Amino acid sequence: MRYILSMMRKLKSRGLGKPDWNEGGKKWKAIGWSASLPRASLRNCGRSTHEGSLDLLRTHTCGELCLDHVGREVTLCGWVDSHRDHSGVLFVNLRDRYGWTQVVFGPESGEEAVAAARELHAEYVILVRGKVAPRPEGMVNPNVPTGAIEVRAREVEVLNPSLSPPLLPTSKEELPGEDIRLKHRYIDLRRPDMQRIMLLRHRMIQIMRDYFDLLGFVDVETPMLGRSTPEGARDYLVPSRIQPGSFYALPQSPQLYKQILMIAGYDRYYQVARCFRDEDLRADRQPEFTQLDVEMSFVDADDVIAVIDGLVARMAKEILGLDVSLPLPRMTYGEAMDRFGHDAPDLRFGMELVDVTDLAKESEFRVFRGAVESGGCVRGINAKGASDRYSRKGIDELTSYVKEQFGAKGLVFFKIDAEGLLTSPIAKNFTPERLARIGGRMDAAPGDLLLLVADEFETVCKSLHGLRKRLGAELKLYDPATLHFSWVVDFPMFAYDVEEKAWTAVHHPFTAPREQDRPLLETDPHNCRAQAYDLVINGNEAGGGTIRIHDQQLQQQVFGLLGIDEAAARERFGFLLDALQYGAPPHGGIALGIDRLVMIFAGLDSIRDCIAFPKTQRATDLMTGAPGPAGAKQLDELGIKPTS
Ligand code: AMO
Repeated sequence: MRYILSMMRKLKSRGLGKPDWNEGGKKWKAIGWSASLPRASLRNCGRSTHEGSLDLLRTHTCGELCLDHVGREVTLCGWVDSHRDHSGVLFVNLRDRYGWTQVVFGPESGEEAVAAARELHAEYVILVRGKVAPRPEGMVNPNVPTGAIEVRAREVEVLNPSLSPPLLPTSKEELPGEDIRLKHRYIDLRRPDMQRIMLLRHRMIQIMRDYFDLLGFVDVETPMLGRSTPEGARDYLVPSRIQPGSFYALPQSPQLYKQILMIAGYDRYYQVARCFRDEDLRADRQPEFTQLDVEMSFVDADDVIAVIDGLVARMAKEILGLDVSLPLPRMTYGEAMDRFGHDAPDLRFGMELVDVTDLAKESEFRVFRGAVESGGCVRGINAKGASDRYSRKGIDELTSYVKEQFGAKGLVFFKIDAEGLLTSPIAKNFTPERLARIGGRMDAAPGDLLLLVADEFETVCKSLHGLRKRLGAELKLYDPATLHFSWVVDFPMFAYDVEEKAWTAVHHPFTAPREQDRPLLETDPHNCRAQAYDLVINGNEAGGGTIRIHDQQLQQQVFGLLGIDEAAARERFGFLLDALQYGAPPHGGIALGIDRLVMIFAGLDSIRDCIAFPKTQRATDLMTGAPGPAGAKQLDELGIKPTS
């Protein structure tokens, strides 16, 4: 109440009105200071305040006072970061988003202020009035912007006390477990590291917005409550109360809306769009995430790629000071799989996959021959100079890793001795000549470690990709601070789902085939390539897009191939099929994963660290407890009967 009254005094003195008692709603309704912020105050949002601003309570932030302010009377607000008593003089570090300032309560503060300061505890929110003074000699801290001054307090007001917090935002001690951080996210988000990440995220989104605005793109919002947009995951469904038994699907992406916007003539669209996918979560996946969603008319893949090249270069320069040379390198999907066993290869280091299937086929070693005879292949990687790094136990660990994670049957290794010979417990199964040929193919030199997998192509790729990633990090083959951007293009249109015995879309069903591959839709869908492109950064898929089908008949044909018959296509995508017949321009686009981009730019290992309120691996929000049960009345209104 004291706080509200002091607010009211301030507002009144500025003629901004006063909070209004809403008799009907029986609650206070903000007029001047929340519902409609004064323009000048809005101008300061997100920035450091300065004298003359309309900040209501404070004159300065905790991060801006310096020797220039010595002698000024100031008012600061913030959280008590730490406080210590030095022979009766109290030192309080006052913290806010902008930094921290040392506040001193000594004899000149007066007894009342000193007594009040003694009652302060960690994370209390306080207001301090006092005078800026230079710190005494020997007490200057050159490591913080406010380190040359202190505020000699005259007055302190507790705006709100705090319970003893489960974590201290600037503690040097190890962080508590993620469950505690997520449950008390409001305190975790006070940590300067978290605030830096949130500000980085804000900056990156701001750069995106400025960039697309400059290029004439229009920001259009698309619905959250809609029909299913197939992007390969399960939908989150929202039951309709008004139409019992009917459901909206939360968007997996705004894909179809942005295509409709092109048909509607908007020409260049972008949106910072929230997407929802009910899928198994990983370190780089959230059920609810944000895309930079883009669509353009009258373009080909090169045009879309060029626009994103420009954005990437701008972000790298403005955020990290990196000069990225354009155009970004490109590699076809086929080449990526062949050289790295993955469609999003980490190109910060070599260690490419080497195919020795032809040598294995004729070898005396049953495991190799057997794999090839049953239609598989044998490939390997050469960890240069790493033979001493991995003892027998270390190699056993790598073997368990490929078996457990990727279903490989085993891992064959050779260490190269000083004479350049391949040594291994299984070396006796090969003639010296065959070993020499394998070594030659894999560029083996003394001290190298060769690791080979014999299996189905997919298992070989997954295993060697996993090993390459693991060894690259363990052997420190790249500087973790560098960013490598590239494109992977010409993905296949379809993948065959053996279990379902059906073709599935590698991107989504609205992707156009390469013009020259169009006849393959009828004759050889397996080899039909798409006009598709993925942005890859340090081995992460940061974005993906395609040129779309804008011809209704072709769209029907692709639906047909995917097992969506005419009736089903009409039922699910009738609006698109209709729209395609009313003057649909050629169009294409892309979506970048904003959370992933921030994660990569900030050098984080987990996507949860760059989302203010993320979900756990079990898709739970530990702070609010979502998802939670719904009330019987609510369920009844929705026509839903719980089964338990
Ligand atoms: P796609 O499904 O490839 O394409 O998604 C684009 C990008 O979004 C990010 N992403 C995710 N980030 C966090 N958590 C998730 N669960 C998640 N899923 C995807 C990735 C990915 O590259 N409509 C198409 C785009 C288009 O064709 O224009 C689409 O959504 O960084």
